[in-house]
Amino acid sequence: MERRCGWPPGATTTLPDEITRSPAETEAFGERLGKRLRVGDMVLLTGELGAGKTTFVRGVARGTGSSAPVASPTFQLVRVYAGRIQLAHVDLYRIEKPSELAGLGLDELLDQGAVVVEWGDRMEARQAALVELEHLEGDRRMIRVKRDLSR
Ligand SMILES: Nc1ncnc2c1ncn2[C@@H]1O[C@H](COP(=O)(O)OP(=O)(O)OP(=O)(O)O)[C@@H](O)[C@H]1O
Ligand SMILES: [Mg+2]
Repeated sequence: MERRCGWPPGATTTLPDEITRSPAETEAFGERLGKRLRVGDMVLLTGELGAGKTTFVRGVARGTGSSAPVASPTFQLVRVYAGRIQLAHVDLYRIEKPSELAGLGLDELLDQGAVVVEWGDRMEARQAALVELEHLEGDRRMIRVKRDLSR
């Protein structure tokens, strides 16, 4: 049976939707996901400008054991952080044509570690986890795990 959107059947670990009230809480959510990442995992992040995607990635990186300073890869499409496993941080905000995606070397990055993608709705990926961040009012953000890691 084809998998539909939502929690994958048979998943043993799930992350429930959560409303965070500070950047630190969003980071903590990301860190929990980061701790579960393994080589070959991909996480696509969606959410408007300032929704908290980079903040979330900061936590993900910490969860993978990286102490690198995490900032949006504005001029490069990808930055790579070393840790327990390597984490490639991709930001597709400025992507202009599909050929740039091909130039990312995603397959290689997935062979080397995990990949997290800001503006992840700008690419297609099967088997990726999907996390949506929504700016509520003030410092509140809704984080929805639309599809969890596939285990
Ligand atoms: N609960 C919260 N979670 C995350 N960020 C928050 C929260 N409350 C306030 N903020 C602030 O909102 C901003 C989020 O910025 P961030 O760069 O993480 O967003 P982004 O989605 O990556 O934006 P962009 O689309 O420009 O890449 C930061 O200034 C952060 O301090
Ligand atoms: Mg960002």
